[in-house]
Amino acid sequence: MRGKMKVIVNIILIGVVLLFATGYRFNSQYANNGMRGHMSGPNVSNFGRHHRDESHMGRNGSSRNDNNFDSFSGRGSMHHTNVPRFEEIKGENNKLKLPEILEPDFERENEVSYTLKTQTGETQLKEGKKTATMGYNGSYLGPILKMRKGQTVHIKTENNLSEETTFHWHGLKIPSDVDGGPHSPVEPNQAAQINFEVNQEAATLWFHPHALGTTAEQVYYGLAGLIYVEDEQTDRLDLPKEYGVNDFPLILQDRNLDENNQLDYERAYNPDGVYGSTLLVNGTLNPYVEVKNEKVRLRLVNGSNARNYQLALNNQTSFYQIASDGGFLEEPFEMTSLVLAPGERAEIIIDLEDYPEGEAIQLVDGETTVLDIGVKGTTDVKKELPRKLNAIPVRETSDSLPVKKMTLAGMGYMVSIDGKQFDMDRIDMEETQGETAIWEIYNAPDMMGGMAHPFHVHGLQFKIISRDGKTPPLNEQGWKDTVLIEAGETVQLELEFPEKGIFMYHCHILEHEDVGMMGQVEVK
Ligand code: C2O
Ligand code: CU
Ligand code: CU
Repeated sequence: MRGKMKVIVNIILIGVVLLFATGYRFNSQYANNGMRGHMSGPNVSNFGRHHRDESHMGRNGSSRNDNNFDSFSGRGSMHHTNVPRFEEIKGENNKLKLPEILEPDFERENEVSYTLKTQTGETQLKEGKKTATMGYNGSYLGPILKMRKGQTVHIKTENNLSEETTFHWHGLKIPSDVDGGPHSPVEPNQAAQINFEVNQEAATLWFHPHALGTTAEQVYYGLAGLIYVEDEQTDRLDLPKEYGVNDFPLILQDRNLDENNQLDYERAYNPDGVYGSTLLVNGTLNPYVEVKNEKVRLRLVNGSNARNYQLALNNQTSFYQIASDGGFLEEPFEMTSLVLAPGERAEIIIDLEDYPEGEAIQLVDGETTVLDIGVKGTTDVKKELPRKLNAIPVRETSDSLPVKKMTLAGMGYMVSIDGKQFDMDRIDMEETQGETAIWEIYNAPDMMGGMAHPFHVHGLQFKIISRDGKTPPLNEQGWKDTVLIEAGETVQLELEFPEKGIFMYHCHILEHEDVGMMGQVEVK
């Protein structure tokens, strides 16, 4: 009897292993859990990602074959993330589009007021047919909202979509009732007025929708914009700050444009993240800028649903990172390569002072050109980079705080935090306003290695204490709100919530967030 039982148990175990290995995701049980909201949704109920990839490629034409799918080179992520390579689209070189700086409805020294509206529209993303898109105050992406530390900000948010949305201010340290999480939907043809105070230092932040189950899709169609927080540091530091001249925002997004130049989210859908084979920067295909032979500042924003970038210069020379998610680094950090995960920002300086007129340099991600920078026009003005950019407080480590542990796990529809998926009626963590907390986040690998997750927390800027027990590199020692955690890695964060309320923390692979890789912390 016992021998027979053992055999049966073994058969069942082998069966389960095989089901996982062949890509079966046990989807049906999660497909209707409400996370995807009203969306008719991609029809993936019984098949894993690989099946969908094949059908997607098939419809895109047989010329796309396996060599367009490069195994992700990250540690142990072989099987999980078949990240499509970028396809080169030759012939079209476009001047980098620059988001407009939004004109305030009114502005006084201590107060500024804006109107921000979601809408649908059509955008020329690629030669040929226009693409049906979404945007803020325009057809694709959004304007830059400038605000100053100490200012009271009023924003009239208006939703002109035919579905609900929210207005989330990624990186702002504001109370949860104006943070724009899934608790604060704005229904179609409705408006909501929000007011808050800017209580944080200069930084490049961004905004995007955060409605329950539809974040990824709305971002994919174009809903994202920038916030520039400015303060005395901005005024004082002698850094490139002429917008569109030597200071450029670069919103990096990968998209799939079909044979009719359309973004078809459902067709591209993959619960482990939608990747695209076309790189757009501020919505520009193959972008270039022309600058003088001076120092140039790039404000990099990874606005992609799932893709990580590894940025470098094509001639392997170094550049300087000056800011991370939440503000300036202590000092400029010289580097030759920078990884940027979804949700993360970094400001870098490229020094072109010794470049002759007519020379060009490319910011690249592997083989792909992200931005072509041509030197046109000269200047004799040479500037030293400021040595000291910021003063970031260091905590007394003598106070031993309790370490709160959290585990990220799973893939596809199974992603979870501490074995749970998002439930708006459940509080997962509790913290006290103004008190320092230590979170230790472990990204548990699975039998296929696991995958990296960019972990983001709302309502604050945190600091990375350690990666696998080691002090992080200098460019990760500044203010952060999103941190990439590799499979098998443990990251410790030091957090202090400045405001009360219920805040989200989640994976910033937007499909993971929508599936439910998200929790809530209540700050009292
Ligand atoms: Cu960009 Cu909940 O975040
Ligand atoms: Cu956020
Ligand atoms: Cu994730």
